[in-house]
Amino acid sequence: MADEALSAPDVEAFAIGRPALDVRDPRSIERAFADVWPDLVMNTAAYTAVDKAETDSDLAFLLNRDGARRFAEAAARRNLPIIHLSTHYVFDGLKSTPYLETDEARPNTVYGRSKLDGEKAVRQANLQHIVVRTGWVYSTRGHNFFTRV
Ligand SMILES: NC(=O)c1ccc[n+]([C@@H]2O[C@H](COP(=O)([O-])OP(=O)(O)OC[C@H]3O[C@@H](n4cnc5c(N)ncnc54)[C@H](OP(=O)(O)O)[C@@H]3O)[C@@H](O)[C@H]2O)c1
Repeated sequence: MADEALSAPDVEAFAIGRPALDVRDPRSIERAFADVWPDLVMNTAAYTAVDKAETDSDLAFLLNRDGARRFAEAAARRNLPIIHLSTHYVFDGLKSTPYLETDEARPNTVYGRSKLDGEKAVRQANLQHIVVRTGWVYSTRGHNFFTRV
């Protein structure tokens, strides 16, 4: 995403990850925000091992719920709007037609429940939010639709 932004003349993007920014540590989030003075922030940090989350639920909730809340709270303290990446796993997948934003979220996995709790935490912590429930992310790097399919 930060690479893509390089070709947009009006956008300056910073991608900051661990150890500089760890969503378990609110002070590191504050420091990262203070370093770059963003106009908008996006949280892409997550526990994404869907199957492993079934037996590793503490860590899934620590990152996907609590980490999301800490990030959104830090953004709210600076009056920053936030884009939060969520997932179609908040739905149970039993619907035979495309899901709508208004459909009830009913996750049937630990990963889905942790991400739904994260969405709720973000909504509560920061009024200026957009939650994106995507099915895939796309990149030429990492584990995603493009490199897998
Ligand atoms: N991949 C998809 O197709 C897909 C589909 C739907 C939704 N999503 C959502 O999109 C977002 C990004 O997914 P992704 O596939 O890019 O995930 P990913 O490849 O698993 O990357 C997760 C990122 O979170 C970082 N992270 C983990 N723990 C952290 C912590 N404590 N503090 C800060 N960063 C931490 C990881 O950093 P390290 O490299 O240091 O471990 C990694 O960069 C997630 O919210 C995911 O739920 C993804």
